[in-house]
Amino acid sequence: MAAESVFTWAAPPIKFGPGAVDEIGYDVAQLGVRRVLVLTDPGVAATGLPERVVETLRSAGLEAGLFADVHVEPTDVSVKAAIAYAQESDWDGFVAVGGGSSIDTAKAVNLLTSYPADLLDYVNKPIGKGLAPQGPVKPLVAVPTTAGTGAECTAVCIMDFLDLKVKTGISHPRLRPVLAVVDPQVTLSLPPGVTAATGFDILCHALESYTARPYDDYDRKKPEERVAYCGANPISDIWIENTLPMLARSFRTAYSKGDDVAARTDMLQAALFAGMGFGNAGVHIPHACAYPIAGRVPSGYHPADYPADEAMVPHGQAVVLTAPAAFRHTYASNPSRHLRAAQLLDPSVDGPEEDRLPEAIRRLMRDTNSPNGLAAVGYTESDIDDFVDGALKQQRLLTIAPMPVDADVLGAVFRESLTLW
Ligand SMILES: NC(=O)c1ccc[n+]([C@@H]2O[C@H](COP(=O)([O-])OP(=O)(O)OC[C@H]3O[C@@H](n4cnc5c(N)ncnc54)[C@H](O)[C@@H]3O)[C@@H](O)[C@H]2O)c1
Ligand SMILES: [Fe+2]
Repeated sequence: MAAESVFTWAAPPIKFGPGAVDEIGYDVAQLGVRRVLVLTDPGVAATGLPERVVETLRSAGLEAGLFADVHVEPTDVSVKAAIAYAQESDWDGFVAVGGGSSIDTAKAVNLLTSYPADLLDYVNKPIGKGLAPQGPVKPLVAVPTTAGTGAECTAVCIMDFLDLKVKTGISHPRLRPVLAVVDPQVTLSLPPGVTAATGFDILCHALESYTARPYDDYDRKKPEERVAYCGANPISDIWIENTLPMLARSFRTAYSKGDDVAARTDMLQAALFAGMGFGNAGVHIPHACAYPIAGRVPSGYHPADYPADEAMVPHGQAVVLTAPAAFRHTYASNPSRHLRAAQLLDPSVDGPEEDRLPEAIRRLMRDTNSPNGLAAVGYTESDIDDFVDGALKQQRLLTIAPMPVDADVLGAVFRESLTLW
């Protein structure tokens, strides 16, 4: 089989800057829609922003409704409830106002109201049937309110399948929003705990896509076989090399001084830039490991600043917990990339070369009061076999790792992640 010679790269049009969200009525009206549903979660709704977006849409002559019951870290049950709500009326377009939870829910609502089917029909194989949407979906505009997922750029939506005890999602280029309205002012209300967890999601998106297996290391694909994540490529790299310095200079400030507009602007821009990179290149070991970590929450772990009614390990925490160990294991696949990433993130780290990137990550975790390893969120050695099984199910991500990843590698990564410092 010949080596791949083609990579793909896509992104939505972007409107960025303080005040951008106040122009959303004009922008949505340009899309030729008349009736628009705004989707958000109760925490974001409490900031008043979604209501403001609804008013702005109405002022532009559009009919706008509000669904404010998105579940933080969506589940199949919560997504189906949102779809059922949306199906009670005819909507020509959607606006997601929130973090990855709201944006991902809106992507699924858009697909399933455009082409009704069983949710599992569209979900990635082997858990679902992996069917492609039959045609174009309706316009979705994303207004990210966390600096984290980059979901405003990506073609995937993730949810927890409660009965199956697995987190997976739907992945297709048609899910990508048609416009991202990215306004740093809307992130000023983010509490420190969410700032930290979502900031580590940015960091891992950046580092995983920068160290991903290169696109031309795969076998050649037919056009219909091309996947949303194609491996490290020259365009994604440019975005990531510009993401890391913004995190280096602003992550700690955004955490400790939430009203610092310059730091918030850097963080939101970093989330967007990382989304431009990983949304095409892909992510690998830490994200694959995050699925079982987030999916089997030890009762009793309630992260600061997240909804208090449920025990959960938020996505960004679940991802970063195995990152220091994962990047020690991937170091040999491409030492110069790991060293460059460490240098961009924290020029002051020294010590053994294979530990510089892990150390830069650990320092940032310590400085933002992040949990010190899997043990700190309530897991023990006895959870590791289940974690390995869960991570092995994420073959879609593991094939993006720059080295072969089997049960032994994953077992070592999880074990080394029990306590980080
Ligand atoms: N589609 C993708 O490409 C992609 C990528 C990474 C993660 N994800 C998914 O995204 C979800 C996580 O999203 P997230 O990390 O952005 O957080 P989130 O959407 O789950 O929100 C986290 C918490 O912050 C609150 N919040 C959000 N914005 C706020 C603001 N401006 N002010 C005050 N409170 C605010 C919310 O109410 C919620 O309680 C997970 O389900 C994850 O799997 C998706
Ligand atoms: Fe992520």
